[in-house]
Amino acid sequence: MASNFGFEQIEDSQICVVMVGLPARGKSLIAQKIVRYLKWLSVNAKSFNVGSYRRADTPHPTADFFDTENVEGERLRRAAAEAAVNDMLRWFEHEGGHVGILDATNSTRSRRAWIEERCKSKGYDVMFVESKCDDEELIMNNILEVKTTSPDYIGQDPEVAARDFRDRIRNYEKVYETIDEPHLTYVKLINVSSQVIINQVSNYLQTRIIYFTMNLHITPRSIWLSRHGESEFNVLGKLGGDAGLSPRGMSYAEALPGLVKASVGVKDITLWTSTMKRTIQTTKHLTYPKKQWKALDELDAGVCDGLTYEEIEKKYPEDFRARDDDKYNYRYQGGESYRDVVIRLEPIIMEMERGSDIMVVTHQAILRCIYAYFMNVPQDQSPWMEIPLHTVIKLTPRAYGTQEERFRANIPAVSTFRAKYTSANMGGETAKRVKPPVAGAQANGVITINDDVETAPQKARAVSVVESLGLNGDKTV
Ligand code: ATP
Ligand code: F6P
Repeated sequence: MASNFGFEQIEDSQICVVMVGLPARGKSLIAQKIVRYLKWLSVNAKSFNVGSYRRADTPHPTADFFDTENVEGERLRRAAAEAAVNDMLRWFEHEGGHVGILDATNSTRSRRAWIEERCKSKGYDVMFVESKCDDEELIMNNILEVKTTSPDYIGQDPEVAARDFRDRIRNYEKVYETIDEPHLTYVKLINVSSQVIINQVSNYLQTRIIYFTMNLHITPRSIWLSRHGESEFNVLGKLGGDAGLSPRGMSYAEALPGLVKASVGVKDITLWTSTMKRTIQTTKHLTYPKKQWKALDELDAGVCDGLTYEEIEKKYPEDFRARDDDKYNYRYQGGESYRDVVIRLEPIIMEMERGSDIMVVTHQAILRCIYAYFMNVPQDQSPWMEIPLHTVIKLTPRAYGTQEERFRANIPAVSTFRAKYTSANMGGETAKRVKPPVAGAQANGVITINDDVETAPQKARAVSVVESLGLNGDKTV
């Protein structure tokens, strides 16, 4: 557990986070985001979605199933909730679960009292996260965006599905009791956090979860990620340092305004860099407001700073091997591990969640960690991801995932990627994989293509949609 972040306090605490709210209030989305955030911070977290348990017996319910006068419906819903709670309690007990999320409407006092009793009897803390929203237009949008495509309505006319879902909500409204039990720990997010009510918070992890949920928003936006242009150290195969850009890196800096324009359009974005020369030089021709963050500086290679992989292998063979055995946790002597980097990036991620359109120009290890957060990449894989030079990655949060697009400049650069258990291989050119210019490519002649889109050259860009929250196909509501 990360000792400098305070999460060590949770070694002893296990928390059940209970979502509360009417249907189509973003509960599942918030639950999945909490899980993603905590897992990224090495907290064992998991969401238990009662809808998916209910679906085992009742895959395509109509609105009347959710009428509390419907005795059979009530029985089945109760059984689904019990099955989810039982699985969650088992997970706490046998699988070292720290934060279990019970994702259901939990919209009556009696349901909440029952959950509280089940969890407390086993010694687990309970906190409630209610999403309350009375913005009819937003709710209708939510229904059309995610509910009409839910497995509940497979094969149905979207209009019929939307009407039925509206009726489902009406049935819930008849019995809905907003949370106001004075003894409970809760956060109430009203109209996407335009108002927040917090009650009886008792420990650090609860505070972190609350702060995180308060910062979530659903205003459409994108995040652009790029490494700095190729540096003099990249060319020499050396790690770390504070070298300037190589001539090809300079060309990338010159090309960046065009490349960014192609992927950003006319929007105003905020530009974040590290405090290192190579990221600052890379953004020198961009005119957006800029902010330098020390937290975005490259992973500190300690005693290996300034060495090549070959030199490290010769000088520190045991370290070289140990790093490949567990790259996420390996900490360079006098330097950092990927785990350390994640801890120092936490405030950056929080700012990114709060913020709007942001472009981050930073370093390979840092981008791996940021990308892993947004795309839900597990820790054993994230330090091994290939994040090429001279490429802009655009991430756009969607209802149940993150869409990824890549815009590649046609400017050759070395590859700084080294595969596990291989010795050094710096110097392979990413440019070998870059295809020739596409007619109509935008961005001042900068090539903004990707292998995937040769069949759609008019787009002149990469479009690879990657789902990241695990909610898409089998969205569990
Ligand atoms: P159900 O009870 O049917 O499972 P739900 O409350 O879990 O519904 P989601 O499936 O998470 O709702 O709904 C996702 C939609 O909610 C997305 O379109 C998202 O933009 C929107 N959304 C996210 N957060 C909020 C919020 N705080 N308030 C209202 N809508 C939100
Ligand atoms: O749409 C509401 C929903 O997500 C259903 O899919 C699910 O069956 C139900 O909420 C779970 O909540 P509850 O246990 O309160 O019925």
